Amino acid sequence: MNNTDIDIAAGAIREGKLVAFPTETVYGLGANALDPMAVARIFELKERPSFDPLIVHIAGLDALETLVSGIDDRVYRLAERFWPGPFTMVLPKSSVIPDIVTSGLPSVGIRMPANETALELIRRSGCPIAAPSANKFGRISPTTAAHVRKQLPEVDFILDGGKTTVGIESTIIRLTERGFQVLRNGIITREEIGAVVPFDPTPVTDDRAAPGMLKSHYSPGKMLLIADRETLHLDISKAGLISFSGDLESGFRKVLRVSENLDLKEYAVGLFEAMHTFEDDDSVEFMLAEPVDEKGIGRAIMDRLRKAEHDWRKKR
Ligand code: TXA
Ligand code: MG
Repeated sequence: MNNTDIDIAAGAIREGKLVAFPTETVYGLGANALDPMAVARIFELKERPSFDPLIVHIAGLDALETLVSGIDDRVYRLAERFWPGPFTMVLPKSSVIPDIVTSGLPSVGIRMPANETALELIRRSGCPIAAPSANKFGRISPTTAAHVRKQLPEVDFILDGGKTTVGIESTIIRLTERGFQVLRNGIITREEIGAVVPFDPTPVTDDRAAPGMLKSHYSPGKMLLIADRETLHLDISKAGLISFSGDLESGFRKVLRVSENLDLKEYAVGLFEAMHTFEDDDSVEFMLAEPVDEKGIGRAIMDRLRKAEHDWRKKR
């Protein structure tokens, strides 16, 4: 079933069912965050390992206070600046949050999405919504309802809110005594966050702090490689190019230009969509994606591309 009726979707959440819903970043696979049985079904449907914790989505700051213990002033400053928005804070969890949501960690990722459908769904459900991206574990994230249907046809309800506007997942941070650390890059950059709270440059090395920082992720069902001297020498007449600058476009079977004017935000919006398009296109045997400088939003894009190519590069 595929619909735009938020009341039906909210009813499903209240009954412990799973609802795929739009956010500004990617579609999420949502369940009542306070219902461990419902949350367990998310892991089952996604085939997600139980060590990979979920983000809890809220619609107002009052919820933050019940879900988190010990909020300091920095949390409010960050919330004021970046919420609603593609920004997740990992904070000490309160006992209200079931352990299955956080994979047993003492912390929980919280985010207020900047998408009216998502916010309205949370409000009408009357509970915070735990949601990972609505794809099979390790695969390409969905930016449309059709992408969700392709990977998770068995989901109880898909709330269709059209194409997402950011295109890649939220920036995830955690707070230390010194400042903030980035657990996942997104379109809200280290520099922007640094204007609110100091950046803590200590490298994040503890696996338990960032269980989602896997080397392989966002992986298409067809080979994807980052375009470089070596990969551009493959037989690209059978390949699709995810193009940014326009400089590499000759000789490819197909080209998808993600931006007309070198705008990294547009690359973020179009990246997963282009991966889905080539994955579904039988005339394309594999795809190359144009790399960008690892600065600002470029960090988030290169993070997605490296993870998407990881297993494919190893196989070559
Ligand atoms: O934009 C987004 O964040 C999307 C939309 C649906 O909101 N959600 C999303 O969820 O990308 P997911 O499950 O695909 O990625 C969540 C990642 C986990 O893999 C993990 O790395 C990190 O968030 N995470 C969640 N809780 C954490 C915690 N307590 N400590 C450390 N990392 C955490
Ligand atoms: Mg994901």
